[in-house]
Amino acid sequence: MCGIVGYAGEDEATPILLHGLERLEYRGYDSAGIAVRKKELEPMIMKSEGKLINLIKKTENGKLLVGNSGIGHTRWATHGLPTETNAHPHYSDDYNVIGVHNGIIENYQELKEKLVNNGYKFYSETDTEVLIKLIDYYYKKYKKGPIDAINKTMVRARGSYALAIIFKDYPDEVWFAKKGSPLIIAKGEKGCFLASDVPAILNYSNKVYYVDDLECGVITKKHVIFYDLNGDDITDEKELVTIDWNSTAGDKGKYPYFMAKEMVEQPEVIKNTIDAYVKDYKIDFEQCGITNEYLKSLDAIYIYACGSAYHAGMIGQYLIENLTGINARVELASEFKYRNYRLREKALAVFISQSGETKDTHEALLKCKQLGIKTLAVCNVKGSTITRDADFNIYTYAGPEIAVATTKAYSCQLIIMYLLAIKISFVKQVFDYETLKGYLDEIKSIPSKVQSIIDNRYQMQHLAARFVAKHDVFFIGRGIDYCLCMEGSLKFKEITYIHSEAYAAGELKHGPISLIQEGVAVVAVATQPDLLEKSVSNMTEVKSRKGSVVAVTTEDNELEKDSKYQIYVPSITHLFTPSLTIIPLQLLAYYTSLGKGIDPDKPKNLAKSVTVE
Ligand code: G6P
Repeated sequence: MCGIVGYAGEDEATPILLHGLERLEYRGYDSAGIAVRKKELEPMIMKSEGKLINLIKKTENGKLLVGNSGIGHTRWATHGLPTETNAHPHYSDDYNVIGVHNGIIENYQELKEKLVNNGYKFYSETDTEVLIKLIDYYYKKYKKGPIDAINKTMVRARGSYALAIIFKDYPDEVWFAKKGSPLIIAKGEKGCFLASDVPAILNYSNKVYYVDDLECGVITKKHVIFYDLNGDDITDEKELVTIDWNSTAGDKGKYPYFMAKEMVEQPEVIKNTIDAYVKDYKIDFEQCGITNEYLKSLDAIYIYACGSAYHAGMIGQYLIENLTGINARVELASEFKYRNYRLREKALAVFISQSGETKDTHEALLKCKQLGIKTLAVCNVKGSTITRDADFNIYTYAGPEIAVATTKAYSCQLIIMYLLAIKISFVKQVFDYETLKGYLDEIKSIPSKVQSIIDNRYQMQHLAARFVAKHDVFFIGRGIDYCLCMEGSLKFKEITYIHSEAYAAGELKHGPISLIQEGVAVVAVATQPDLLEKSVSNMTEVKSRKGSVVAVTTEDNELEKDSKYQIYVPSITHLFTPSLTIIPLQLLAYYTSLGKGIDPDKPKNLAKSVTVE
């Protein structure tokens, strides 16, 4: 939700800022803006509504703004409409303080009143304008410099923020502060950088500092200095972390969209995730501090997540309870805070998150910690907020994921769910070594099977042409196929804007069947051998009401008679079919989106990283 960037150095700031914003556009694209400073000149500010491309055009590819330090912002609107006035940067009337912000200031109305009483005028509806003017107020009132003004503001402002600020009196420097929203700092050869996320700076450096809550500081051409809330220099205590993503990992490369690139990358990143934890026929979670003895002692697993990560958790729940025999429960992280059930003491709480920044998931983690339950993050971004607060971390190796609709990260999350379920079962002696080997062989076969589906992707392109004009699509399945349908349906609706719903196939007759008629498409995922006959009956019910059925199943089944179209994926043990069946559903969503002229990377109103409640 909103991305911020900053640069102070020898190079022209504008191209660096625009490049950073491009890499952060997944965080919001309601408006964009930058402020750039050249020593002897007044700061230059430009903003525009809508996607970043509008700002790039307005600045004539960045040429209109010159300077060696600056800040930038891409917005996902929270307070106020996505207009140019509400776009960041915001600034004091005399340009003394200019800033960009990611987060939400909860007490901004109260702070605004205080500032109005002190003669400040406001032009936008944003909380950010209040924050920037509050810094200006303290700066002028106490005359003790930027850190004092920032710290006083941090004490007064309630809520979350990652802030990048320029002060008129310090033309070569960019100041920062953080609480709740992510912020990283990087040191390059010709300057220092700040950003909401790593891909924004990967072209210049792979060594970053993670700014912690209630820290602030400054970047200059050569230095980064961190301060705590008391104003003490804490730079020596900060750790420089090396990022193992290469600099092109965040580029589209030869693909028209990030989503296309990320779908195609799936065989490779699934393999990377398997290889990170499977050594010969051993699942190694000890490297994450998770011992066999500990796993053996567990009597329950709770899983908390949002969006697609929640859907991966649904599959995790299914596998854990089926294989291990211990209790498993998955819950939307956003709902967990309203629940009061008793968590078992010997439970492990698992938090699945691509970004590691989703606020609801993070809050669920904090609640579990407070209740004394051990926490495990299954996460794609090292050093992210959730990974820093969790007791254990198991990373997915999907690499940077930029498209708003997740594909490769979800696929890697599934692998971790499988491995966790198998590992717990094995240490609890639910099955023997031979069975473990059999399961691991099946898991190792997933990358090549996914590759074969991707190689056949044009089949889905043809099918998508039939979906472009649809108004309603249902995804139905039973058991693990139902969990998969949840993800298939979400993918489809978020990037095609076509109404779609996932239903447990058995529930069809309890309501949604009244909506089935000619023109309605029903995607029926039917892979589970013991449930196949029942699923076929549901397809027949749809057919008799003139709905058109697309069956998604494994090659060892035959569903020609029962459906209008059939999508076959390679055979695999019924436990791991989601890794294969999700691929055609991702492709269906992608090609339907293209068919409707939608940019699948940036569906309206959505952002990839949801750092507000
Ligand atoms: C947003 C994204 C989804 C993602 C969800 C959870 O809604 O659009 O793709 O699944 O957030 O994000 P996380 O980073 O926690 O996995």
